[in-house]
Amino acid sequence: MSVFNDAIASLLSPIKDLLDDEGVSEVMINGAHEIFVEKKGLVYKTDNQFPTEDALISAMRAIAQSVGRVIDNDNPRLDARLPDGSRIHVVLPPMAKNGTTVAIRKFTKEKLTLNDLIAFGSLSKSAARFLDICIHLGKNIIVSGGTGSGKTTMLNVLGSRIPKTQRLLIIEDAAELQVKAEHVVNFETRKADPTRGVEEVTIRELVISAMRLRPDRIIVGEVRGEEALDLIQVMNTGHDGSMGTVHANNPVDACTRLETLCLMGDIKIPPDAIRKMVASAMQIIVQCSRYHDGGRRTSHISEILGIDKNGNYISRDIFKWVQTGKDPETGKYIGEMIPCGYVPTFFEDIVVNKLPFPKSQFICPEWYNDLKKQAA
Ligand SMILES: Nc1ncnc2c1ncn2[C@@H]1O[C@H](COP(=O)(O)OP(=O)(O)O)[C@@H](O)[C@H]1O
Ligand SMILES: [Mg+2]
Repeated sequence: MSVFNDAIASLLSPIKDLLDDEGVSEVMINGAHEIFVEKKGLVYKTDNQFPTEDALISAMRAIAQSVGRVIDNDNPRLDARLPDGSRIHVVLPPMAKNGTTVAIRKFTKEKLTLNDLIAFGSLSKSAARFLDICIHLGKNIIVSGGTGSGKTTMLNVLGSRIPKTQRLLIIEDAAELQVKAEHVVNFETRKADPTRGVEEVTIRELVISAMRLRPDRIIVGEVRGEEALDLIQVMNTGHDGSMGTVHANNPVDACTRLETLCLMGDIKIPPDAIRKMVASAMQIIVQCSRYHDGGRRTSHISEILGIDKNGNYISRDIFKWVQTGKDPETGKYIGEMIPCGYVPTFFEDIVVNKLPFPKSQFICPEWYNDLKKQAA
């Protein structure tokens, strides 16, 4: 096991096979005797067990120590990145009622590519080409979705399509993105550690630095705090084509979420003004969803048009994923991504720049209209 040193490896021997198994993307430990894994998007219970709660806690202590941290009664939670890039989160009893609770999200060296997403049916070829065009035209893009829905993967894919001549500044809490581009600068936040006199460096501070480092585009891995306002300002002040992810369930929700995050900071901008800023910064929302069959799919690609007279965000779906059936054997959903019959407002830019994307690609397929009629 390359991830850990020998001592940790032996403490973790009860789950060694799970850590070694490349098909396992996540290991979840709910106390010594209950261990689950995620494989290909589905969660299974395993027979693996730690002999005792103490054995499990010792392993977690050793991991904490190896990254210069402590987990004990005074510090009952640990959030750390292992040397190989895997992320681990631990909560000790009595807060964790099941016993020491751990999730290890394994770092996959091989990130999925645009072609993988197309091959998995998460994205249609046409939608992929459309996203490429949006990036080429410097549209601001927010990837929205729940935990584990594929946001980071999507952002990684999109970031790798940014034109070579541009300078990218990437800001993350834990370096996960591996954007393949020529001119990339990566920043990672730092947690405070008062015992060693280490001060925190936040996403917000790094965004402010990034702005002063002549970026063409800024990418914020995960927007979850007051840095939302900085990203919105970045997007509204000429760094077109900036990107980020946000935790939300649909494209309108993503806008609302960003607005809420903007208001978290200590700022004097009235909520109405914030809403206008968010609406004008947002151009394209890519919604990632994890379906009940375990599949991760791009459920919507939408354009945000601004706010209506009642103050609501106006969102128009350009593409969406539609389920048409279910495989009786595997339980997997059958379906495809279709255009919704809406032509984005910037179609003229596509034409003027001679980008290969004819208007016909936005036409909603006849079968879907028939399906809707039947369902009505
Ligand atoms: N479209 C997809 N199809 C299959 N697996 C995917 C897809 N997108 C992401 N994954 C996998 O799902 C897991 C979680 O993805 P991630 O992008 O980290 O989600 P999030 O950032 O939303 O938490 C990763 O193991 C990733 O490789
Ligand atoms: Mg993520």
